[in-house]
Amino acid sequence: MTFADLPKVELHLHHEAAAPPQFIRALAAEKQIDISGIFDDDGNYVYRDFDHFLKVYDTACLPLQTPRDFYRLTLAALEEVASDGVIYCETFVSPDFCGQGDVSAWKEYLAAMQEASVEAEERFAITHKTIVTCLRHLGPDKAKVTALCAAETVGDYLVGFGMAGAELMGRPGDFAYAFDMAREAGLHLTCHAGEWGGPDMVADTIKDLKVARIGHGINAAKDPELVRQIADQGIVLEVCPGSNVVLKAVDGWDSHPIKHLRDAGVKVTVSTDDPPFFHTTMTNEFEMLHKTFGWDLADFKALNTNAIEAAFCDEATRAAIKKRLEDA
Ligand code: ADE
Ligand code: ZN
Repeated sequence: MTFADLPKVELHLHHEAAAPPQFIRALAAEKQIDISGIFDDDGNYVYRDFDHFLKVYDTACLPLQTPRDFYRLTLAALEEVASDGVIYCETFVSPDFCGQGDVSAWKEYLAAMQEASVEAEERFAITHKTIVTCLRHLGPDKAKVTALCAAETVGDYLVGFGMAGAELMGRPGDFAYAFDMAREAGLHLTCHAGEWGGPDMVADTIKDLKVARIGHGINAAKDPELVRQIADQGIVLEVCPGSNVVLKAVDGWDSHPIKHLRDAGVKVTVSTDDPPFFHTTMTNEFEMLHKTFGWDLADFKALNTNAIEAAFCDEATRAAIKKRLEDA
């Protein structure tokens, strides 16, 4: 079996960035929206640094205007991800891009995504769940509105709540109200932290937002006591090494802390984050981890097991995906 054939589980994937750039370009052309400035001559996304990446990301979302657009986006994204061997994924969806936080509009967008998801499961044998995600740089008030959208639509398909965006804006505790609302509605919690912020940001995220998973979390590796705490509490890190290398959150593959974290007993998982932005796929992540640290199929099977055990889905789905992983 090759890394490409291996069935995979991916927990950290931004919905709007999961489709190929050609899909976004074609949709923009259809709607006569000029977003040509975010592509290079080869049709790949271009950006200077993380802040510019967030702006380019927003621009790439401009052609996504209706529930039907999100239906098409979801189908294109799941076809792409499934073609790389992913059999279960969770994607981060922002109601800010789907009706600007209006709950009844959001319900229509979510229903369209779910329709595409059901179709993708039949056509591409991939199971998909969603995580509503607030954007940190929009501030705590917007986060509450986003949490309300999530709380109103919690169910089998919408299973989690999280936060992405500019990590260095504000402190985790500023967003506690939104996370409390989501938790009380029955949603599972994750939050980007320790991609740009230091160990203190990861520690405060765990303490103030009471999350089960951390998006990235790599800078926790700088504090041995925090690493021990994360390992002891069984908090799962959604590590996206290729993203960290391209965005320069780390100096390179050789110095990526994923091996150190795993060796210290932390439950790590591997994801792509925004695959076309970082010229990556799950197979590429596995190949690079093999090249850098010598990890092999047994290691990647163990990482997939970590991921499905940390997935926010219902137990029947978890058991079905585990069986597919074991049968492979
Ligand atoms: N949104 C999309 N990708 C992101 C990342 N790597 N960090 C924070 N927010 C994001
Ligand atoms: Zn992310």
